[in-house]
Amino acid sequence: TAQVPDILSPEFAANPYPAYRAMRESAPLLWHEATQSWIVSRYADVERVFKDKEATFTTDNYDWQLEPVHGRTILQMSGREHAVRRALVAPAFRGSELQDTFLPVIERNSRELIDAFRNAGSADLVADYATRLPVNVIADMLGLDRADHARFHGWYTAVINFLGNLAGDPDVAAAGERTRVEFAEYMIPVIQERRENPGDDLLSALCAAEVDGVRMSDEDIKAFCSLLLAAGGETTDKAIASIFANLLTNPEQLAAVRADRALIARAFAETLRVTPPVHMIMRQSAVDVELTGGTVPAGATVTCLIGAANRDESRYKDPDRFDLFREDLTTTTAFSAAADHLAFALGRHFCVGALLAKAEVETGVNQLLDAMPDVRLAEGFDPVEQGVFTRGPQALPVRFTPVGA
Ligand code: HEM
Repeated sequence: TAQVPDILSPEFAANPYPAYRAMRESAPLLWHEATQSWIVSRYADVERVFKDKEATFTTDNYDWQLEPVHGRTILQMSGREHAVRRALVAPAFRGSELQDTFLPVIERNSRELIDAFRNAGSADLVADYATRLPVNVIADMLGLDRADHARFHGWYTAVINFLGNLAGDPDVAAAGERTRVEFAEYMIPVIQERRENPGDDLLSALCAAEVDGVRMSDEDIKAFCSLLLAAGGETTDKAIASIFANLLTNPEQLAAVRADRALIARAFAETLRVTPPVHMIMRQSAVDVELTGGTVPAGATVTCLIGAANRDESRYKDPDRFDLFREDLTTTTAFSAAADHLAFALGRHFCVGALLAKAEVETGVNQLLDAMPDVRLAEGFDPVEQGVFTRGPQALPVRFTPVGA
């Protein structure tokens, strides 16, 4: 049988993949004492938990983790409450809203970050780009004062640290709860002002949204914006860093993408499969449920290991290899990521921001390749992944010849 992994150990954080494989092979349903949860690691089982048409699994167990920092968000909701609340926010993240209103925001923010290092010949694509773009984009989408971006970044960091506080550091917990207060003090007056003077931004759209006679209160909108920091910030940050790490360590695939930019969509899907930003997602069982390897009792917490499921050898050939040309990838240039991996989850809580994330990654890769024609990793540098619940490269120092030099 598989050894129960200690997810707080440095060995697991350094390389969880051998433990994932052992679980898939010999303990596809594993009771984990430290997190008091049933770990599910095979693709078919994780897919089943996410799709769950009969409402066998809920997200009720998110409340204790998310409520203290965000308040009540769609991620904690189920059933009709979730369906209506999700319909209020989702339109802003797809179709013409995304294409016409927010794509220019992404392009502008990406260009500004690149301009800061395009003549230097060197950069750290994590610190100088990936960690900054998604949060700047969210702040601009909301139409916040650009002079406040630094404060917004500070709240982002406090929220991320709060959610990743596995060791229960009391200072990190207190900073997270303080952020909830400060964020509300800042956001509520801005929301009220936007109700009076609506503009072309996400906050105004959220103020105006109405579904089945339901509208969002100031508190609802503030909580959703707080969720965006974590759900749209850290995830996209890791996705951008990982697609670059995967391409830079596979130079022949980087050359192919450089020559044919339509391949970025496949590189993105393959990155989300082999190195998903979110490795673990929790659910709560409403009734006893049969999964491969046994029965999960009603009321239990289930940990879905996306990072393990996405490398299931019964689903993917040579699963540990990054290969954007792999035959079991259905994505061509269009968006069909849902069929290729579980990185955005599936079913009712499927990522609202998937198309926004794709637009950010595609813009970022395109603009960075244009600015850095001969980009390569700094000599002797090997990317190191970090993180347990979310995961991505810690740093990506690169060298390049500036355009026109
Ligand atoms: C939900 C991943 C980018 C907003 C989710 C979930 C996953 C996920 C796995 C499901 C959580 C669960 O079921 O417990 C990702 C990844 C991203 C990304 C890998 C980047 C590559 C974004 C962006 C936004 C966003 C850019 C918006 C700005 C949301 C929201 C939810 C969500 C609001 C909650 C949906 C619901 O509860 O119905 N995301 N996400 N995400 N994501 Fe994303």
